[in-house]
Amino acid sequence: MAIDFTKYVATVPNYPEDGVIFRDISPLMANGKAYHAATDEIVKYAKEKGVDMVVGPEARGFIVGCPVAYELGVGFAAARKAGKLPGETVEAKYELEYGTSALYLQRDAIQPGQKVLVTDDLLATGGTIGATIQLIEDLGGIVVGTAFFIELDDLHGREKIESNGYDVFTLMNY
Ligand code: PRP
Ligand code: ADE
Repeated sequence: MAIDFTKYVATVPNYPEDGVIFRDISPLMANGKAYHAATDEIVKYAKEKGVDMVVGPEARGFIVGCPVAYELGVGFAAARKAGKLPGETVEAKYELEYGTSALYLQRDAIQPGQKVLVTDDLLATGGTIGATIQLIEDLGGIVVGTAFFIELDDLHGREKIESNGYDVFTLMNY
């Protein structure tokens, strides 16, 4: 029987600031079966897309992307926040549901023409994933799909990403 993954998401009102309903994947990660099954769903999607490389934004994008890359036997590149990556980097600024930020990739993280899956725990406004896509494309990568555990419908991230021609795969909607 299909797992109801929403049973493993904690809902925390007014975190990290008033008015935000935070969707916490910690219980999902704490349950080996649920975490494995959720990861497997994204692995299946990635296999359909034919992926050479996985990229996830700091920090929760690593939680989704690393096990997917491991299972596929492909590489993982971390899109990180300021001051975390040595060597030459590319930068993309973006706006969040709460605040603004910037992400970076090392210049040699992606080879031109590589087919890349972008992963994160949650799609809200789409700002984070939009910036991650920009970084990958700046380096010549081809984004073949984006995958998330959770999608927040009211923030319309899917519309933003799909209207730019990218595919979106999610396991849960709120
Ligand atoms: C959260 C979440 C996504 C992003 C989604 O990360 O993990 O990356 O926000 O929001 P968006 O679709 O509006 O961009 P956050 O920036 O809080 O960083 P963290 O993973 O380091 O906690
Ligand atoms: N990232 C952006 N918005 C979020 C939310 N409501 N819950 C968890 N992570 C988030």
